Amino acid sequence: MKEKLAIGVIGCGYWGPNLIRNFLSLDGSTVKTVCDLSEQRLAHIKLLYPAVATTTDVGVIFRDPGIDAVAIATPVHSHFILAKSALTSGKHVFIEKPMASSVAQCEELNVLAAKKGLTLMVGHTFIYSAPVKKIKELLDSGEMGNIYYLSSQRLNLGLFQHDINVAWDLAAHDISIILHLFQSMPISVSCQGKAHITRGIEDVTVISMDFSSSEFAMVTSSWLDPHKVRKLVIVGSRKMIVYDDIEPIEKIKIYDKSVRVPEHYDLFGEFAYSYHYGDVLSPYFKMSEPVHNECLHFLDCIRNAFPCLSGGKEGLDVVRILEAATASLRSNSSKIMLHESTHSHVAGEDCAATDKNE
Ligand SMILES: NC(=O)c1ccc[n+]([C@@H]2O[C@H](COP(=O)([O-])OP(=O)(O)OC[C@H]3O[C@@H](n4cnc5c(N)ncnc54)[C@H](O)[C@@H]3O)[C@@H](O)[C@H]2O)c1
Repeated sequence: MKEKLAIGVIGCGYWGPNLIRNFLSLDGSTVKTVCDLSEQRLAHIKLLYPAVATTTDVGVIFRDPGIDAVAIATPVHSHFILAKSALTSGKHVFIEKPMASSVAQCEELNVLAAKKGLTLMVGHTFIYSAPVKKIKELLDSGEMGNIYYLSSQRLNLGLFQHDINVAWDLAAHDISIILHLFQSMPISVSCQGKAHITRGIEDVTVISMDFSSSEFAMVTSSWLDPHKVRKLVIVGSRKMIVYDDIEPIEKIKIYDKSVRVPEHYDLFGEFAYSYHYGDVLSPYFKMSEPVHNECLHFLDCIRNAFPCLSGGKEGLDVVRILEAATASLRSNSSKIMLHESTHSHVAGEDCAATDKNE
């Protein structure tokens, strides 16, 4: 295999430039061509990286035998068709989260990638971040005890999307983190939400997920909050973790706090919960750029034919939950058993086709 894999990047709006910068900075890759429908965005990339070719015709990337892999950072509704064309053209594929607009689309991409023997990876960026790796270590060590529940908040003002609601945009991150930490799928999903600004596109959602081992998780997402919040709380029977991604240094705090029920008591008057208050510890871990780590992982998986930590299966799992959350939203927040939610619901298909803010 070539010393440097040649990458074609499709989409250089807000997020794509992060992929371009990282694939250009890694020893094992280079960016040969960038495609976008916007000449303005391409001119910006050309200014930053004069050696990179730019085009508005995505076929230039698919037809180029010199391009080994394609990274897709376009709006979600275009992920499926672009990824399918890239795989069909024999390219390895990295797709931004969420993988596609429906379970059916993800399944088709997974079958195609397997048939062609190509790497298919999804940009679940946070699982490649140092804090999430540290939390996974803590959970796996058993130090936290049994996990009671996990609560995640991802809130800010904007950026409003037109093709997906806030759950598909922001909760995709939290769900990928939660599935990575628990290494299991929930048995049921329910979701509440409201569309305040764009008709039919929820800008605030609350997803709750029941896991088979009695663990429970809730994810709150909002494009309508005055504060930027990125917080994950994990409550275990022995210890509790607070991960605040906005904190510049002490992002993780481990609280040695717990509640115990007395094992024996004879009289009601003797009954008392015992509250344990211990130290608060902020563990050290070396920070690194998650996008750098995920791009490196993608190259490693291609070179060694390893399964990706966030491959097509993990991408499908996240979309399965988002699809169930949408089904719940459309049925008065009813609880959706995951095996029932597989009839395909395309993200945003029943959203009003309006860009206007009301
Ligand atoms: N991993 C992360 O942390 C993270 C963060 C933000 C966004 N994202 C994901 O990245 C993707 C892009 O989001 P964004 O915020 O950059 O959107 P954006 O709207 O800012 O940029 C998308 C770009 O894609 C271009 N485009 C659209 N359709 C195209 C097509 N068919 N061919 C070529 N170019 C096309 C648009 O002109 C635009 O420049 C989404 O899937 C989003 O969920 C991931």
